[in-house]
Amino acid sequence: MIGVVPSTIVMLVLDEELRLTEEIEKRMKRKKPKRAATAETSSGTEVCENVPTTITDIVQDIIRKRLSQTSLPPEITGFEQERIQLYELLKRTVTVGESNSVLLIGPRGGGKSMLLNSVLNELGSDENFDNDLLQVHLNGLLQTDDRIALKEITRQLKLENTVGDRVFGSFSETLQFLLDALKSGDQSSKPVLFVLDEFDLFAHHRNQTLLYNLFDISQSAQTPICVLGITCRLDVIELLEKRVKSRFSHRQIHLFNNLTFDRYCDLFCSYLTLSNEFPDKKFAKDWNKNVAALSKDKTVVDILQRQFNFNKDIRMLQQLMLSPVIRISETSPQLLASHFVDSMKLMTTDSKSAMLHGVSVLELCLIIAMKHLTDIYDGEPFNFEMVYNEYQKFAHRRSSMQVFEKSVVLKAFEHLLALELVKPMDSGGTRIQKEYRLMSLLIHPSQILDALQKYPNCPTEVKQWANSALA
Ligand SMILES: Nc1ncnc2c1ncn2[C@@H]1O[C@H](COP(=O)(O)OP(=O)(O)OP(=O)(O)O)[C@@H](O)[C@H]1O
Ligand SMILES: [Mg+2]
Repeated sequence: MIGVVPSTIVMLVLDEELRLTEEIEKRMKRKKPKRAATAETSSGTEVCENVPTTITDIVQDIIRKRLSQTSLPPEITGFEQERIQLYELLKRTVTVGESNSVLLIGPRGGGKSMLLNSVLNELGSDENFDNDLLQVHLNGLLQTDDRIALKEITRQLKLENTVGDRVFGSFSETLQFLLDALKSGDQSSKPVLFVLDEFDLFAHHRNQTLLYNLFDISQSAQTPICVLGITCRLDVIELLEKRVKSRFSHRQIHLFNNLTFDRYCDLFCSYLTLSNEFPDKKFAKDWNKNVAALSKDKTVVDILQRQFNFNKDIRMLQQLMLSPVIRISETSPQLLASHFVDSMKLMTTDSKSAMLHGVSVLELCLIIAMKHLTDIYDGEPFNFEMVYNEYQKFAHRRSSMQVFEKSVVLKAFEHLLALELVKPMDSGGTRIQKEYRLMSLLIHPSQILDALQKYPNCPTEVKQWANSALA
């Protein structure tokens, strides 16, 4: 029950982790060498199991599952009040058949789905309410109109056979029929929870029929239903029609990310720490010691601080941790600070600089010419003729350079335009000859110099030209 759980952190032992730890226990008892297992598999005497075999495989599997967003995190940081609010609301629907409607509002990756899943998990694991709540999960991205949504509701309530070939007059009639079909002999009805993810998209459906009917039922005492909308839009109420708005309870739960850096670091540790149930106690102890040391390591703290300053989003933190976890192996079974550095580099790779590695030397020359023009004219736009002129001056100065014809250069220039490395200043409606259209460069000079360092076999003259102040 929620009352006995420590208010700061709600610990959740994952079923999946237990399954995996049981698996490793079994394997340790069997002590079957890895090679023998593969030999048996390849000879076809044993059905191929897709189960991790080495200890690092199992650790990877456990942590990867935590980071993949399909399961609940080892700890939920914050949201204690909001969790209690949601839990009590759903509990009232289950126990006393109270109808409710509520909106869960928060930014992307802010933990909305996670909070709901954790509450539903807790309700599900309580023997008193087990199986008492029917659930229908809809998503605005999948159920793009109310007809599809109704079909999905029928499917999730397992009422396809009951509906059969019946033809209904209206949407509300169908919905009412579905809910009536759930009633037992004494006309008592099981409570139904409708979760509408991406709730704002349902407001764009024709006449908002689904929302109108769901809110209408939740207001009348016919069937106990709880309508839970999940959305990122703070102004979602404004999207509702008047008749829909008036039927909504106006109950809203806001989830805002107010993580502090310390909490952020704690989350980092909790995602990577192995639980006490891990069977190889010695490995788990070493692993956890290493994770604790990493969380104090200056390099790692710097990386976490940079990521935190940039974005507090936990999904980004998970992404940052994923690559070091994948890189552990039997020969190097611990997480390394240098792998976090690599992971950060990978995440912050500048897509524009990366794109420059794929352009030809001629295109690179044009970009350098544009950089010089931007420097000379203090950021003023330029046109193709000016760029061509700069390029020619450079190419004639260096006798070793191949000088391309104007038409070829123009083609290269158009390619850069298609890559969106340069952008026309006008909107495209004007009839200016393409050689004279004003353009601006979309790459920063530092990005150009950075890309040149890594450009494979870049001619020295081109590098020098880029670095010189001379156009
Ligand atoms: N307070 C938190 N404590 C621990 N983990 C969190 C917290 N908030 C979010 N997460 C983790 O961040 C990830 C994204 O959360 P979730 O999927 O719930 O976001 P969401 O609000 O539903 O986003 P979306 O709007 O994209 O659906 C999940 O893996 C979740 O476990
Ligand atoms: Mg979600």
